[in-house]
Amino acid sequence: VIFTLFVVSSFGDGDDDDVGYEVTNKTFPKGFLFGVATAAYQIEGGWDEDGKGEQIWDTWIHSNPKIVADGSTGDVASDSYHKYKEDVACMTEVGVHYYRFSIAWARILPNGRTNKVNKAGIDYYLNLLKELKANGIEAMVTLYHWDLPTALHNIGGWTNPEVVHLFAEYAQLCYELFGDYVKTWVTINEPKQICHGGYAYDGSEPGYAPGINSAGIGEYLCARHVLLAHAKAWHIYDTEFRSTQNGRITIVMDSDWFEPTTDSAEDKEAAETKIQFVYGMYANPVFIGDWPQVMIDRVADRSLKEGFDQTRLPPFSSEEVADIRGSYDFLAINHYTSYMVSAAAEPKIDNPSWVKDAGGHVYQKDTWQQAAIDWFRIVPWGIGKLLKWIKATYGDLEIMITENGVSDRNGTLEDDHRIRYLKLYMSHLLDAMYEDNINITGYTLWSIIDNFEWTQGFNGKLGIYYVNTSDPERPRVPKKSSKYYANVIKTLCLQD
Ligand code: NOJ
Repeated sequence: VIFTLFVVSSFGDGDDDDVGYEVTNKTFPKGFLFGVATAAYQIEGGWDEDGKGEQIWDTWIHSNPKIVADGSTGDVASDSYHKYKEDVACMTEVGVHYYRFSIAWARILPNGRTNKVNKAGIDYYLNLLKELKANGIEAMVTLYHWDLPTALHNIGGWTNPEVVHLFAEYAQLCYELFGDYVKTWVTINEPKQICHGGYAYDGSEPGYAPGINSAGIGEYLCARHVLLAHAKAWHIYDTEFRSTQNGRITIVMDSDWFEPTTDSAEDKEAAETKIQFVYGMYANPVFIGDWPQVMIDRVADRSLKEGFDQTRLPPFSSEEVADIRGSYDFLAINHYTSYMVSAAAEPKIDNPSWVKDAGGHVYQKDTWQQAAIDWFRIVPWGIGKLLKWIKATYGDLEIMITENGVSDRNGTLEDDHRIRYLKLYMSHLLDAMYEDNINITGYTLWSIIDNFEWTQGFNGKLGIYYVNTSDPERPRVPKKSSKYYANVIKTLCLQD
């Protein structure tokens, strides 16, 4: 019998502001996969150790000390370059099936090119992979989690088509070096943050490397090249490695959910346009083919009106469309929060995930509970709506959640708020699986340990193990949520 428990009945009135304070009794099916995730710059430290090259976040933060909320850097981060065995021990304690981590391109190729290889960097990842294998934990490896080698930024970064080929060569080398240990590859993590965050920087908010101010031009060029790089890397794996290594490979996109403020056609269109610019920009080429029509319509038209002699949206050739279309083995999403959208005559910029050409008024409700990271309010029902939209838009695909989690500032060990967040988001996930028949096969919690949260530094702690960064030893200390997640994995049930 499936029924619902109200854990905190004083919250939530069932209307639109109800953030979903309900925990389901539905259970995950046997064989459902649970993992945890991290990324190189956020955990490794050792930023210039043993021959690692500099990457754009090293350069960006070293030259703009104020860019990070708490003034910290990722130079040491959680020190996983030295403490990876402790990380794996945490995972073993929790009982996860897989570990999603990323390779730092510049740690194995200091100048981004395959003509100079750093053996110490290769050994680091081989040792980590062996440690995982020895503990029965599968590896899900991200090739690019935002840390472009600075040498490649110096030739134009993701706006230079040469980077497409260099990424493909780097990917190929990784398949050769590590492929025997890797069951799942992710080419690129969150292209929207790479291109919009990195190339549409207006200087007014904590920014993403490389901090280039080229909204609506450089950001689209970046999107084009990131998609081509992903497709090239996918095809190399598909044709040259899949038959011997038997792995799977895909791209990870992030998406917030965008909820229309009212049922009016205008608000619905504004919300749909917004999600197409945020998510469809990357998903449409991969799952359907080419840029979303609304981008072609809006950007091409606007470019001409604004006096450009050609569209600011660089077109794909039909060959490129065909290469990118279908370059996935399953669909992977990172999801944390949601926004409301209403049609607006004058577009208002009031949140960091703004994409200028999308228009609309985008905001979060004050009634939604705030997480420690400033863009981030807790809206559990958003994940269910997003998943339904994905199924309706791209078809009935296998989906893995490759990131989900919540922040606080102090890293408290008694993190009941995180347990509550996990219960609520996973409840909506289970509803999506059982009520909407969405084929979800895995869930990845961000993150196993507290780590360096980009523009927030250590002000945003998302780990289920605490890392005290003022202690040089940086021990990993279990939070209450690590026990809770372990129990979910063991019992397949969300109740304590
Ligand atoms: C998604 C990113 O992939 C990850 O690096 C980041 O820490 C989380 N969002 C939380 O902001």
